[in-house]
Amino acid sequence: MGQLRHMLRDDDVNHEEQKQILELGMKFRENRFYHRPFEGPQGVAVLFDKPSTRTRSSFSIGVAELGGYPLVIDKSGSQLGRGEPISDTTEVLTRMAYALVWRTFEQSRIEEMASVATVPVVNALTDEFHPCQVLADFLTIAQFKGGVDALAGMTIAYLGDAANNMANSYLLAGAVAGMHVRVSGPNGFLPDDAIVQDAEAIAATTGGSILVTTDPKEAMRDADCVFTDTWVSMGEENQYAVRSKPFWQYQVNADLMALAKPDALFQHCLPAYRGKEVTAEVIDGPQSVVWDEAENRLHAQKALLTWLIGKQRGDESLLV
Ligand code: CP
Ligand code: NVA
Repeated sequence: MGQLRHMLRDDDVNHEEQKQILELGMKFRENRFYHRPFEGPQGVAVLFDKPSTRTRSSFSIGVAELGGYPLVIDKSGSQLGRGEPISDTTEVLTRMAYALVWRTFEQSRIEEMASVATVPVVNALTDEFHPCQVLADFLTIAQFKGGVDALAGMTIAYLGDAANNMANSYLLAGAVAGMHVRVSGPNGFLPDDAIVQDAEAIAATTGGSILVTTDPKEAMRDADCVFTDTWVSMGEENQYAVRSKPFWQYQVNADLMALAKPDALFQHCLPAYRGKEVTAEVIDGPQSVVWDEAENRLHAQKALLTWLIGKQRGDESLLV
């Protein structure tokens, strides 16, 4: 029996489901053509209201490798960008495409799309969450640290703008994975209580834990993987001046990295700003796995799309 599922935020999948998607991602890492769920050029609409390099390329190439046709629509080239209602756009696209992927602003926009769509909807980044990125990041940990089963119980640390989409996604996805998630940023740039409470509730069921702290050293101590992100997210470009100052003590540099485990990984969703949220020494250094992380966007998203299509069709063979 088919089941329509979406990936709007990281906790739209449970622990076992997240593992299943990551295991599929490992299979796609080994064999780019492991599954081809789309027969012929079945279309997947990939919409962008914000710029993108990695998400655009990984979904475009990924959908093609799955046997589908990626229809990439930019805000400037769509009627959505001229104010056509989300529900009207969705009514049209859902009759043509086999999945809808959208990078946009408020989370409520993609929730509205999902409330109308009759095909899976995937969040390709909103102001609140970036679940595809974190699937790729966890796949990268699995790649380097002993597979998907090794994720539960690991400690991850995120430093910097702890109120942004990446911080929120690490909190939720890390909790789902059963990780010990530490998020650190300055006062005024910490996650919303509602997200922290959601993450804590999930962590209580998976054996994980959540720590939100203004002390970057407390977050870094003995971490297995360290993450950071830009201090100025898309849509905040007019805040450069106010957004640099409070974050300096959260810059991931060699001194802070020395507090993490000696074999800790460093990851960054990219684009990175060397000399701001991370030093060149760290991001270009031996602990950095950012290029594998970027490549894993392709494998993780192919796994996610395959899993969502498998669920919708009730085709168990696509889930493993
Ligand atoms: N990390 C990421 O989503 O990159 P893009 O903005 O280039 O898609
Ligand atoms: N927090 C960043 C992530 C970019 C992939 C942004 O939203 O711009």
